[in-house]
Amino acid sequence: MPAAGSTSSSRDGLGLPAAVLAGLGTCLPVTEIHNADLVALLDTTDEWIRSRTGIAARRRAGDEVSMRDLACEAGANALRSAGLETVGGVVLATTTPDRPCPAGAPEIAHRLGLGQVPAFDVAAVCSGFVYAAAVAAGLITSGVVDSVLVVASELYSRIIDPMDRGTAVIFGDGAGAVVLRRGTAAEQGALLAFDLGADGSGHDLIHVPGEREQPDGPRWFSMAGRKVYLRAVEQMAASTSRVLKDCGWSPEAVGALVPHQANGRIIQAVAERLGVPPGNAVCEIARVGNTSAASIPLALAAALATGQLAPGARTVLTAFGGGLSWGSAALTWPQLRAVHSEF
Ligand code: UT7
Repeated sequence: MPAAGSTSSSRDGLGLPAAVLAGLGTCLPVTEIHNADLVALLDTTDEWIRSRTGIAARRRAGDEVSMRDLACEAGANALRSAGLETVGGVVLATTTPDRPCPAGAPEIAHRLGLGQVPAFDVAAVCSGFVYAAAVAAGLITSGVVDSVLVVASELYSRIIDPMDRGTAVIFGDGAGAVVLRRGTAAEQGALLAFDLGADGSGHDLIHVPGEREQPDGPRWFSMAGRKVYLRAVEQMAASTSRVLKDCGWSPEAVGALVPHQANGRIIQAVAERLGVPPGNAVCEIARVGNTSAASIPLALAAALATGQLAPGARTVLTAFGGGLSWGSAALTWPQLRAVHSEF
């Protein structure tokens, strides 16, 4: 039974239709901002940033780059990885749309030459990738489409106050994408269970004020770090437990726990609380910082490159972020080659 206020679902019959991971693509802006660059501007130290977050560098896109540019690159890379030229739909997860209207996904579909497929955005902040994957899996298993490109693209440099040491040291720009296709739950790569939840009582713990809330002055992103930290550990561990239960997997059997890359200490605390072997928790935050919705596909690609993620590994993705929102997904890792580019 899912916990109150949270929804989980599983594909417990192996012959059932399922969404299957078929491709993985990523894209990062070329410019790296090292801790030393920030120490020169802010009242902070390399030691504080590394010890409190695990971050050594993050990427920042140039002014001429849009969220949609990064999304298109990552999406094209995921299609290449899947060996596909067309898909049946596009779902984009982003917290940093280039403009309030329209959604970014239709233009991404157009620029990628995908035709007039259904395309829309999902706004679930750092949980956006898992939410978008769950929506895409629903479209596939209900027979609406046979494949979906799920893209997560973020340009936090557009919403972060460069002089706020509480957020400027943490967040970075980047994009990641996956192709999901229709298959069966028996296949490697099949998404076997999802758990999603939200708690709007914490809506103001991570937020960017609207025009009415703050008519004058810049409207920057803000985060109540310590409060969010505690909720993140609690909810990612609980949500992961629910998908493990749905799959009948023990924590020790998890080959790769891939949490949202918010903070190295949060990742270790979640693994510890669950009883997942610490070496099996993927922590790739050092090079790219917290890229919000894009962090899970970027972490997947990094873990694949280092061999931490291998075909057949029991893999659990788990995310937490603004809303507050959280979500987890379970799959066995398929045989695939990720495609990466820099922009
Ligand atoms: O991605 C969406 C979800 N996000 C998360 O899950 C993030 C959750 N939160 C965090 O990762 C951590 O709370 C932070 C990294 C944001 C902060 O780390 P913390 O260990 O929770 O520190 P804190 O906020 O309790 O602050 C401790 C001290 C404070 O000083 P005082 O009050 O003790 O004098 C802060 O002012 O550290 C100070 N501080 C800094 N010092 C140097 C805060 N930021 C910095 C900084 N450099 N960049």
